[in-house]
Amino acid sequence: MKKLIIANWKLNPTTLKDSQKLAGSIALKAKNKVVLCPPTIYLSQISYPNLGAQDCFWQGAGAFTGQTSALQLKDLKIKYCIIGHSERRLYGGDTDEIVNAKAKSVLAQKITPVVCVGFGTTVEQDDLEVIDVLKTQLDIGLSGIDASKAIVAYEPVWAIGTGQNATPEHAEKISIFIKNKYKVAKVLYGGSANAANAKEFLTQRNVDGLLVGGASLKAEEFNTIINI
Ligand code: PGA
Repeated sequence: MKKLIIANWKLNPTTLKDSQKLAGSIALKAKNKVVLCPPTIYLSQISYPNLGAQDCFWQGAGAFTGQTSALQLKDLKIKYCIIGHSERRLYGGDTDEIVNAKAKSVLAQKITPVVCVGFGTTVEQDDLEVIDVLKTQLDIGLSGIDASKAIVAYEPVWAIGTGQNATPEHAEKISIFIKNKYKVAKVLYGGSANAANAKEFLTQRNVDGLLVGGASLKAEEFNTIINI
């Protein structure tokens, strides 16, 4: 079965021209399904079969300066929305309750939420401790939601942007836990995924794909990942 590879460009690139150039160099047909998540400001001007947003507000419209709503994403035919990324939790103050409200708001517009969970600033591979924290994040984050329509991305925070990835076996174990307990549509792994380690993750039975940050900004490397 095809795996799902989501590119999280974060706050890159810094010009529309460079964003369009990057999108234009990603293969339109690949072995895996691909979703590009450029910065919100470029979403309407990037053409790619599947686009996602990096965040959205939980209200549809109103006096909410600086926000983008699921209604607006729907209008642009955006199909996916990353919710609760650790950088949103850190810089935007997203709590598990906010993650839940955002996930509900995108689902109401038939946009697939990619709910990010994970924690820890130092290497943490104690499966039981990880599961304990994820339980809290997901019990609240997915509360009252039809989980079969949601994707969860497991991203150990210590692995994000550090060049230090979790082991594929750890990712597999955690994916099995999340699927069994929450019956979500898919579980992705994220955290320093790159062309060198992607195959090991993608050959795990229960890792349904990858959320790729840094490596998604390098067209050649990303094209390798999506064709594994
Ligand atoms: P990274 O980021 O691949 O650069 O570690 C992943 C993410 O934050 O989604």
